[in-house]
Amino acid sequence: MIRSFELERDRGVSRFGDAATLEELEDAQVATMGRKAQLSTLQKALGSLSPEDRKRVGRVANDVRATLQAALADRREQLERQAEDALLEEDRLDLSLPGRAPRVGAFHPLSIIEREAVEVFTSLGFRVVEGPEVEDDWHNFQALNIPPDHPARTMKDSLYVDVPGHPELLLRTETSAVQVRTMLAQSPPVFVVAPGRVYRRETSDPTHLPVFHQIEGLAVDEGITFADLKGTLEAFVKAMFGERRRIRLGPAFFPFVEPGCEVGVSCFRCDGAGCRVCGTGWIELLGAGMVHPSVLENCGYDAERLTGFAFGLGIERVAMLRYEIPDMRMLVDGDVRLVQQFRGVA
Ligand code: DAH
Repeated sequence: MIRSFELERDRGVSRFGDAATLEELEDAQVATMGRKAQLSTLQKALGSLSPEDRKRVGRVANDVRATLQAALADRREQLERQAEDALLEEDRLDLSLPGRAPRVGAFHPLSIIEREAVEVFTSLGFRVVEGPEVEDDWHNFQALNIPPDHPARTMKDSLYVDVPGHPELLLRTETSAVQVRTMLAQSPPVFVVAPGRVYRRETSDPTHLPVFHQIEGLAVDEGITFADLKGTLEAFVKAMFGERRRIRLGPAFFPFVEPGCEVGVSCFRCDGAGCRVCGTGWIELLGAGMVHPSVLENCGYDAERLTGFAFGLGIERVAMLRYEIPDMRMLVDGDVRLVQQFRGVA
């Protein structure tokens, strides 16, 4: 009987050793130590032995059980570790492999300038508005005091849109049309800037594009003076190009302002001494003036009570000066290498 116990022990130990998975080990345990296993039958037979034999054989039986339990626990631990290792191996991540970096985009220089300028003006209290790029003759010309015989409206300068039943549609030639739409839509006071695309019938060359960008500004309230215009533009220029910049104003004609002026800024590269970028030390930056009373009246504003100023800034020009881009066409010819240079700039 002792040999039978020992036989069961050896069979059990070898079954446990043969189990290749935790499930197989479970089966081996039932087969070896379960209620219907040979070991249990032997255990029950102990009762029929004489007290003396029962004591002797019982000790062996206990040793056998203990041995089997230990073998079972060892094998279980082994198999568990193996399963864990297999999982880890499956999930293995080689941190020394070079990563696949996503391509990082960049803002186009025109976007950088536009966003920056808009941010300066909004910090000064201006609100951003937009208008349609397809305009009608009244908003683009008549309301802005540009009469039918004005040279700016000839086919030479404007791109007309051929829509049956709408003979007077054109692509807006300047963002100034948004002045009109803004005043028609709200009552004073008005403090807005209108960034956007404008179109002219023009052949591209190093300083011209048929499609370009402007930011229009308009302020209308009681008591607005030329000094407000000057102070606003000076604050803008300093925020945009540096604290040391000065502005200068010279007379200029625009039908929708009176008086009108051209605004120059001291060169941000040579500080006014004269260099390759500016030539004379000054960079002509934008057109501006006091809103013409006729424009106010055309929009239903009381020109006796209200005054205002307006300005228009070309974005391409600012981008070219700031980044020393020699040809305006480079901004639109789609060479990604231009834009890549602006990664992380805005
Ligand atoms: N619209 C003008 C242009 O495209 C720029 C301009 C000049 C806008 C004077 C203004 C202004 O608002 O007051 O050349």
